[in-house]
Amino acid sequence: MSRPKILSTRELFPAARDILDKHFEVDYGKPGQQISRSELLKRVADKEGLVCLLTEKVDEELLDAAPKLRIAATVSVGFDHIDVAACTKHKVIATNTPGVLDDTTADFAWTLLMAIARRLLEGDEKMRSGNWPGWDFDQLLGGDVWGKTLGIIGFGRIGRGVARRAQGFQMRVLYSDAVRAPADVEKELHAEFVDRDRLFRESDFISLHVPLLPDTRHLISKENLDKMKPTAYLINTARGPVVDEAALADALERKKIAGAALDVFEAEPKANPALLGRKDVILTPHIASASVETRTKMAVMAANNLVACFESKRPPNALNADALGLK
Ligand code: DGY
Repeated sequence: MSRPKILSTRELFPAARDILDKHFEVDYGKPGQQISRSELLKRVADKEGLVCLLTEKVDEELLDAAPKLRIAATVSVGFDHIDVAACTKHKVIATNTPGVLDDTTADFAWTLLMAIARRLLEGDEKMRSGNWPGWDFDQLLGGDVWGKTLGIIGFGRIGRGVARRAQGFQMRVLYSDAVRAPADVEKELHAEFVDRDRLFRESDFISLHVPLLPDTRHLISKENLDKMKPTAYLINTARGPVVDEAALADALERKKIAGAALDVFEAEPKANPALLGRKDVILTPHIASASVETRTKMAVMAANNLVACFESKRPPNALNADALGLK
């Protein structure tokens, strides 16, 4: 019996490839290379399944180009690149990879938080350039982390992971979210539910963990940046457009806040040029979940979503299961 044809825009990891190769006839993208839009549209045309990445839009145009498509499985938890309503209209199941990257991403938010507060990259640069004149009393003074107030915007799995780690640093944790966390979670994480205004005003570090939605776009605006303490730092491992990068660069220039560490950007793969030359900014290329262990789990999860679909089971991470009436 012939196996369903699928397109996997990346070769992924052996653990995921083993699953895909066993069940499907797989057309893999070229290793280490982004698939171009035209190539994607061409190669998906005769496929029943798609494994894609967050850089590849699944929209009306793609769905029209792939009339046989039954599932689009992104290897990411974020799915702002997928038009889920359009998928439902085309009877295509959309899936993502929640849960497996929470701790790895929380670790990285902390990596950025500590690196910006303690001026890690500036220190590294001094050593490499041979520009360190030797120890001195007031060199590269940063801000303390321990005992400070951490404000978490978006208190889902990743936000809670960031809060959990704060306990080791004896921090006060404030959080804001559309929905208040259960009392036992607040108690376990010593986290206080506050409105955003208070969070902006009282936090020494603000870490973002919201999805990109119409009402989170440019949540970090001039107005909100101006509420922050001049000694505060902003950390973004969520989605780039949550931060108005031009407003951030301006706030840093005006010394409205002390620094920012960003892993995600408004117009990836570029960052706003006004941020590039700044020493009070750390920029990393969207790598918060990039550990071998986590990326392997994400790829396996996406592969298993495809397998479930073609075994006529409800894929475990279907985003439109109810809309499609999947049992
Ligand atoms: C996601 O999964 O959405 C991250 O941004 C990349 O792993």
